Amino acid sequence: MNRSVTSRPESIVRALTRPPFPVDPYPLYAELREAAPIFQAEDGFWYATSYAAAEAVFRDPALGQGRGRESRIRSDPRYADSAALQTLGHMLPFMDPPDHTRLRQLIARAFTPRAVERMRSFLEQRVDALLDPLAERGRGELMRDLADHVPVAVICEMLGAPGDRHADLVAWADRLVAAVHSTVSDAELAWADEGARSFRDYVGGLIEARRSEPQDDLLTALVQAESEDDALDAQELLSTACVFIGAGIENTKHYIGSGLAWLIREREAAERGRRDPKALSRALEEVLRLEPPVQIAIPRIALADTEVEGAWIPKGDRLCAVMAAANRDPAAFANPDVFDPDRVGPPNLSLAMGTHFCTGAGLARLEAQVVVGRFLARFPNARLVVDPPPFRDEIRPTLRGHAALEVDLGL
Ligand code: HEM
Repeated sequence: MNRSVTSRPESIVRALTRPPFPVDPYPLYAELREAAPIFQAEDGFWYATSYAAAEAVFRDPALGQGRGRESRIRSDPRYADSAALQTLGHMLPFMDPPDHTRLRQLIARAFTPRAVERMRSFLEQRVDALLDPLAERGRGELMRDLADHVPVAVICEMLGAPGDRHADLVAWADRLVAAVHSTVSDAELAWADEGARSFRDYVGGLIEARRSEPQDDLLTALVQAESEDDALDAQELLSTACVFIGAGIENTKHYIGSGLAWLIREREAAERGRRDPKALSRALEEVLRLEPPVQIAIPRIALADTEVEGAWIPKGDRLCAVMAAANRDPAAFANPDVFDPDRVGPPNLSLAMGTHFCTGAGLARLEAQVVVGRFLARFPNARLVVDPPPFRDEIRPTLRGHAALEVDLGL
């Protein structure tokens, strides 16, 4: 009988990255981090699970996506015929400096902290309108009735996209994101391509409309950046509009869901949060540490031989920072599995670090603060009907969030 011996770290990686995904992955992340904080699995990928190793993956300039046509996405032999890969290939997360630096600076001009803060009153009104029917019913399912609606409404409002295509945008973005992983099969890519084509047609139409009739929105600011010295080419403009939708919806929805679940349960932190917005934002940061919506970062390629926390990584190898493991590393955070809103320590890695630090971090935090803050203020006696609430198990291992959040509002 041919019985191959599988090491424990290898079987943990398999359990974490192949369906059915574990309901509670954190003990497995901890075991892997203790056994091998930087581990090369049989699929060839290195997994960096300690805080130091994950931070090194984010910061090491020898690790990246490759430049221009040499990049991981653009050098895929299917690139020329794939709408999904062409869209991804011109997005920030899949670019290296100097193109990345140029594009990121342009986006920063449009996506300013002021532009984000201007969303606050829109957010408050939208959230209150979603809470009204909940209050009438006295109970609800907060993923379906609340979290699902907020991030897509916010990003469409910022971009200036009409509100009637929210469901389509979410579906297209979801299909596009399926093409992110280098192991994507031909069938998955064909599925992603279909979504990408619809996405591009729709967003392309919005861009054309802004060219002829500028508005006071993010899309117009990007169109203007495109026309100034050709700083942003047409492909990049389209991909940038798509990245905001693709990178800003699902993960933020899950962050909002986890924020609600934790603070409904953590009554003392909720009470402090009701009185003090700073206490609320500290509590939500702790939720972000404990429950990263994106558990594993986009893979990097070693562009040259390099060393990560004592492991020698040859040029061409692929590495993933595992934020879900690093955020609970006892070498970085005392009692790492405990919810402690007064915690002092290094920043959590849920929004990455370094060159690719999440552009939407301020927006994601604002959305969570407004949704959770308004909910707690209005329903101080809410309780979870199903505790712990179920997690989605059908989505990719990189994303984690609640499938449903049944609550009794205690009115
Ligand atoms: C809680 C919600 C969010 C989480 C957990 C999250 C997480 C991340 C992570 C981990 C990265 C780095 C990816 C990598 O390099 O491997 C990233 C990058 C990015 N995020 Fe977010 N994100 C969130 C919300 C948003 C929002 C609301 C937007 C925009 C509307 C956004 C836009 C971006 C963009 C454009 C990048 C690429 C940055 C670059 O490559 O320079 N994200 N995000």
